[in-house]
Amino acid sequence: MSPIVSPRGRYLVFGAPRLPEEAIEAVTEVLRSGWLGTGPRVAAFEEAFAQYIGAPFAVAVSSCTAALHLALSLIGVGPGDEVITSPMTFAATANVIVHMGARPVFADVDPRTGNLDPEAVQDAITPRTRAIIVVHYTGRPCEMDAFIDLAQRHGIFLIEDAAHALEAFYKGRKVGTLGDLAAFSFYPTKSLTTGEGGMLVTSVEAWAERARVLRMHGLSRDAWRRYSEEQFPDYEVLEAGYKYNMTDIQAALGLAQLPYLEGWRRHRELLWQIYNEGLRDLAGIHIPHEDVHIVHARHLYTIRVDPREAPFHRNELIRILHQAGIGTGIHYKALHLHRFYQQAFGYRPGMFPHAERISEETLSLPLTAHMEESDVLYVIDTLRQLWRRGKV
Ligand SMILES: Cc1ncc(COP(=O)(O)O)c(C=O)c1O
Repeated sequence: MSPIVSPRGRYLVFGAPRLPEEAIEAVTEVLRSGWLGTGPRVAAFEEAFAQYIGAPFAVAVSSCTAALHLALSLIGVGPGDEVITSPMTFAATANVIVHMGARPVFADVDPRTGNLDPEAVQDAITPRTRAIIVVHYTGRPCEMDAFIDLAQRHGIFLIEDAAHALEAFYKGRKVGTLGDLAAFSFYPTKSLTTGEGGMLVTSVEAWAERARVLRMHGLSRDAWRRYSEEQFPDYEVLEAGYKYNMTDIQAALGLAQLPYLEGWRRHRELLWQIYNEGLRDLAGIHIPHEDVHIVHARHLYTIRVDPREAPFHRNELIRILHQAGIGTGIHYKALHLHRFYQQAFGYRPGMFPHAERISEETLSLPLTAHMEESDVLYVIDTLRQLWRRGKV
């Protein structure tokens, strides 16, 4: 089939961020301020973020991966422990379990939502289980009542990987306040971005204090306090920490976006509904499931392309859409299908059939607040044209 050339002459980049002018100005101001490291902007961002989430403490770090790693360090996960998580996530969620010397234990997901299935998690709990990391996949909160109950009954920790779910609520409660610790991502494709960055959120003050030490090599004083006029530059190494701090450049960028989040979420909600209406009748395309007891963050718009009914295989569609100037994503190839997890932990195809099916059929279409309705209509038109023509 001949390639479809985008009539619009520009590529629809997957995950392109929307940055307000004042965010760019705030960064420029930091660049001119004489202090680029971790300092007053980071403190201000943490305070505003904690308020936004409605959590007592927020600790800014260099990525969501760092936040997840710190979360496991704070609860003392180590060799011999097991941590249960979803195979339907980015590698970071499980890699940090491996970094702690523990075993990542996958459990299957709900086929409608891609979120961890509480019954499958219950079946995976053993005396060695120390924690569950739930992943609010695509921005849809997990069934947290069931996970809170499981964690309490078994005396294990509950960590939220909220990388997709900054704006989400579960039964009126804000995502990020439902577990013991939560990790957020400010990676470039996320709805709030600091280029790279993340936030660890908790209601336990001692954990927040230790996380601030651990993110900065384990030093008793951070660099701002060591170098600013306030303090004599003395410090001690309290433990072997990490280099996981956020800079004031990143924090300024993040802080300026916070007031926009809800408006941007509503804009994505509108685009989401346009996608739903435009695609729901195409053979073999399954639009996302809707729940009424949650506010979905609308981070990833994922369709499933059923190879038994659709005229195109998902992978073929990715290639054709690319030629039409449309960037797409796959979220995700299930983690137990990756070579490392098979070789290191003995995972095999067939172990988590729901995750595998999503893994083979899922396709993420572009969705960010940067996009206009016409962008979504273009994607829909392109798909409808393809479906009309069918395979040639
Ligand atoms: C579900 C999930 N968890 C963790 C991460 C890691 O985030 P970061 O890139 O900020 O470390 C990502 C990144 O995309 C993610 O999607």
